[in-house]
Amino acid sequence: MNARPVKIAPSILAADFARLADEVAKIEAAGADFLHVDVMDGHFVPNLTIGPPIVEALRKVTSLPLDVHLMITNPDAFIPEFADAGATYLTVHTETCPHLHRTIQLIKEHGVKAGITLNPATSLTTLEEVIADADLVLIMSVNPGFGGQKFIPAVYDKIARARDLITRTGSRALLEVDGGIKIDNAAEVVKAGADVLVAGSAIFNTSNYAETIQAFRSAATQAHSVSL
Ligand code: DX5
Ligand code: ZN
Repeated sequence: MNARPVKIAPSILAADFARLADEVAKIEAAGADFLHVDVMDGHFVPNLTIGPPIVEALRKVTSLPLDVHLMITNPDAFIPEFADAGATYLTVHTETCPHLHRTIQLIKEHGVKAGITLNPATSLTTLEEVIADADLVLIMSVNPGFGGQKFIPAVYDKIARARDLITRTGSRALLEVDGGIKIDNAAEVVKAGADVLVAGSAIFNTSNYAETIQAFRSAATQAHSVSL
């Protein structure tokens, strides 16, 4: 069981990029806890999105923590730039890090919180040796690359096992889940053990962000009260 208050991390991938500052102001006023920023390189994932200049621009217009999800082949080469741009968390895919311990240290040397993420097909065992150094564990509930995909149900069990690993090892890492999260499966994701819910299309495709975020919070609270 996990009774920590759940955080909501809207993914700006689903925002209107032509009006990004307005979108961010609206989402901050609506009660978001983190701003999730999806960085894709067209190589590790089949899509291209944004780089450090946008993170730097975002840092100037919001006080929300910037939760930067690096879906890129060679994260070590870009960690200094993303750190200087103002990232709060830098989360790397284990699939892209042959020297994951070194990569985590590099993130921390730059004064940034270190996140580790796993694709749906990647086993949790890769986390065990580095969990003590992680500030955040991100479980992907879709194959990364695009917003608006369907949540993969087999991931519920993986979230529960990740929660066990975090509890068992006394890790301080937040457990975040990303991909296909909607109001109607949020309670299940929280019940499985999530601390942070990433949601892109489920928030930005609605007209009232505050109401939507509130609905996510109610679902999360309901999940906790059932499990208590
Ligand atoms: C997928 C990204 C997600 C995505 C979530 O590769 O990492 O953060 O934006 O979008 P939704 O909530 O629409 O699945
Ligand atoms: Zn993401």
